[in-house]
Order: sequence, then structure tokens, then C-alpha cells
Amino acid sequence: MFEGFAHVWTPVILASSLRRRPLPVTLAGERLVLFRDRDGRAHALLDRCPHRGVALSLGRVTGDGCLECPFHAWKFQGDGCVREVPLNPDAKREHLFTQSFPVREVGNVLWLYTAPVAEPPCEPTLPEALTLEGAARTYFQVEWNAHWTRAMENMLDSPHVPYVHKATIGRFVRPYLKPGSRMETGWEDTPYGGRTVSQVDGQAEPGACLDFFRPNMMVLNIPIPGKVFRMHAFCVPVDAARVRMIIIGARTFATLPLLNPFFNHTNKKIAAEDKAVVESSYPVEVPGPAEEQSVRTDRATLQFRKYYHSELKPSSAAPRARRALPPAEG
Ligand code: FES
Ligand SMILES: [Fe+2]
Repeated sequence: MFEGFAHVWTPVILASSLRRRPLPVTLAGERLVLFRDRDGRAHALLDRCPHRGVALSLGRVTGDGCLECPFHAWKFQGDGCVREVPLNPDAKREHLFTQSFPVREVGNVLWLYTAPVAEPPCEPTLPEALTLEGAARTYFQVEWNAHWTRAMENMLDSPHVPYVHKATIGRFVRPYLKPGSRMETGWEDTPYGGRTVSQVDGQAEPGACLDFFRPNMMVLNIPIPGKVFRMHAFCVPVDAARVRMIIIGARTFATLPLLNPFFNHTNKKIAAEDKAVVESSYPVEVPGPAEEQSVRTDRATLQFRKYYHSELKPSSAAPRARRALPPAEG
């Protein structure tokens, strides 16, 4: 399961997009269903009834907070246990279950652990501005026709900014570029992934940096004295040809909500500029570090390739064979 993307916490969707109805989502090739129980708590199950394979996302959430299959109305709890098997009061429910996945809801993002385990070995690593008190935030999500690794690399790639974004953020960089200008791209390993800082002709904007949070997140820090201004880009694998981009802006200045559409509009414009080049990349998935031709300014993207090909791509999660505990009564 989750071939090439297993045993990691990943953002999945904006939490505000999961409402009362069950929601089908594909994550790293696996068809899942998200739903909220009667307390509003989010859960994730495989979107395939273990009885006859029907999509559970076509079902409904019952008054007791279970997800009911639309075919024969088996009722599933958020932990995957079967609460009820209609017309079969003698069914051995302790042998019936579906795969469930750990879910967290933080910073208006739903996070999922990509293995069907009861207890994940860690909690998601959250960029701090997602929950920073007093910050205004903007959100949008959009799907691109690209492998998530090309999108992730694009987000870690500083040297494209003056060219792809010449109509937006690149405008501020271009005046400093001269014929023969030289960019240096540093990389520093961090507990969560890595940080890259770029200099042009020995000049760096103090505090400007890109953070990579494993496995698929980028946080851009735009320096404004005494303030926080960040752009988060999460590259969520849908399948081999699609990625869901979740873009979250956070700022501690101009925090009036009526300014949110302006900041969100700018982020949408920047993302649209990236989309065109990312979707054109071939092969669709980033190749190994020795393939394609690289130069000094590719340091951050080469670090990502190393991580992806050595740690993430070989990963896969085994389906859970059987429930450890009998289903709860009630
Ligand atoms: S297929 Fe789901 S209950 Fe029969
Ligand atoms: Fe870009």
C-alpha cells in the first residue's frame, strides 16, 4: 500500500473541505474515504467495503457516527471495526473489519499516516506558522496533472524564480541580476528535512529561506522585520499523474480578513505560473540523482532526489491482516 509514499505523515486536504458527507480521496494511489463521526472527529478508511468491494464513500454517516456501506448496510466505526451486520445478528464481527488510517486535524489541514497502524510511531511535524496565534491565513487547494515529485522540486528550486515568476515575485529579483551574475545555493540538514538559502553575487536577503519538511512540504520565509510572512506549499500525491497542491499563506501584518482575498489571489497567480512548467516535465517522476544534467544551483533539488530515491520510493506499507481488538459494543 502507498507504494513509494509509505510510513509518513502527510497533509491530505484542507480540513474545511470535509463536511458532513463522506469524501472520497485518492492518496498515493490508494482510494480512501474520509468522514466525520458525530463528534466531528475525522477518520480515514479504505474506500472499499471488505464485503463486496463497494465504495464506502457512496454510503452515509449514521446517527451513531459510523460509516454505513450503501450495499448491505454494514456499519464501520472510524477505527475500521464493524459495528453492525444487518440481517446477520450471529456474524462474528471480531473477524470483520476494514483498513483504517491514523488522522489528525491541525491548522485547517487533515493529516494522515500512510500505513494502516493503530499507533503511528510519531506525530506529524507541523510548520509553526500553521497554528501561530495572531496570524492571518489564506488557503487554497488545486490539482495539477503532474507527479508530486516534480511539484516538490519546483517548490525547492530558487533559480527559476526570476524566469518563471517574472510577472510576480521574480520582478523583485530581476533588477539585481547582471550578465555573469552568480547564484550560490546553500543546504543545511535540519531535524525536519532541510533549509536552503540562496545568494546572488554574494548578496542574500537576511532571513530569506526555503524550508523542506519531509516528506512533501515547503515553507518559504519572506523576511519582514519583526513580522512573520510565510508561504506553505504541500505537494500531496494523488496518483502517478496527479498532485494536489495545498497552498497556505500566513502573516502577522495586514491581518484584516478583508485583505485575505488579495493575498490568496497573489498566491494563486504564483502557483499558476509554476503549474505550466511542472506539468510539462518529462519523465513525469523525478529521475535518480545521476540522471538529467545538474549544476551548482540545483543543490536543494538534488538533496530532495537523494531523500526520495533512497528513503521514500522504496517504502511500502503492508495491509493489516486482522484486527488486534474485538469491535467495541454499542
Ligand atoms: S458490499 Fe458493503 S455491506 Fe455488502
Ligand atoms: Fe515557482
